[in-house]
Amino acid sequence: LNAAESGLFDDLIEADQRIEPRDEMPEAYRQTLIRQIAQHAHSEIIGMQPEGNWITRAPSLRRKAILMAKVQDEAGHGLYLYSAAETLGVDRAELLDRLHSGKQKYSSIFNYPTLTWADCGAIGWLVDGAAIMNQVPLCRCSYGPYARAMIRVCKEESFHQRQGFEILWTLMRGTEEQQEMAQDAANRWWWPSLMMFGPPDTGEAAQGGHTEQSMAWGIKRFSNDDLRQKFVDMMVPQAEKLGLVLPDPELRWNEERGHYDFGPIDWDEFWRVLKGDGPCNAERLTHRRAAHEEGAWVREAATAYAAKQAARERR
Ligand code: 3HC
Repeated sequence: LNAAESGLFDDLIEADQRIEPRDEMPEAYRQTLIRQIAQHAHSEIIGMQPEGNWITRAPSLRRKAILMAKVQDEAGHGLYLYSAAETLGVDRAELLDRLHSGKQKYSSIFNYPTLTWADCGAIGWLVDGAAIMNQVPLCRCSYGPYARAMIRVCKEESFHQRQGFEILWTLMRGTEEQQEMAQDAANRWWWPSLMMFGPPDTGEAAQGGHTEQSMAWGIKRFSNDDLRQKFVDMMVPQAEKLGLVLPDPELRWNEERGHYDFGPIDWDEFWRVLKGDGPCNAERLTHRRAAHEEGAWVREAATAYAAKQAARERR
């Protein structure tokens, strides 16, 4: 009996219940989840690189300790997510191969460089802020293992966002040079962080997309544009608190809509970055492949140890 014939899957989705690994599910549902969870996992581990770049140069011992913890959290998020993907019957080694060969994507945002210390603040504030906006609804995703992984991830992300805000808060209360550095980082990260939510729901730049089907399956709970709007509405007052000017002359409160209006997003840039032509795509993948190769001995040692333990237990 396949999932469609049994009707159980549809009943569970209809009742807004969770689908668990043992449940029958349509193949397309399984493939959509593998794609999204794997891309999410890849984003977490590639996302270690831009900030990892600043660990040795963090401006104080306290900042360094916080940054190391944050980057380690991202590795942890990657691990929960690969585990969640494995419950769908794929192998993590295979998923990593797909990342390394460019067959699977990771978030566009991690193809931009971290030029100054203020970029660590802007990433925490904007990028992790966007990640939270996108991931809190995923805690209610219809697939149980993904939804459960998201709960802890979101708790840690909110710490990350606050640390980013606090870096910028400190810089904005510093020297003129520090304030300029913070403003420059906000200028460079604002538009790419809006692109993180994915292509628009309608229009030419939408290029098809998975939203409608994913919402029907309860994987996505909001469309890309709805989440982007919520993000803008959340960030404008925070930017005002920080004393930062967001780089969009069209940004203004729309009384009628009850939301902030904002200017057009450069979707050509987004699709270019996705196709591999962002400022750091090549660097990110080269570094990732090298880390994987250099870590081969650790995986081999762990496998040999596990085999030895298993043999001992059998004796
Ligand atoms: N970067 C790269 N690719 C993107 C993208 C982005 N910002 N936004 C969309 N895409 C891709 C999609 O993967 C899809 O490509 P595919 O068909 O080849 O797989 C295509 O563009 C069309 O987009 P859709 O909106 O139709 O795709 P989805 O329904 O999958 O929605 C999404 C995109 C909203 C990003 C959704 O996949 C999602 O919610 N993913 C989980 C969250 C996530 O991956 N976050 C990663 C960044 S945050 C992070 O890593 C935390 C940090 O602390 C390290």
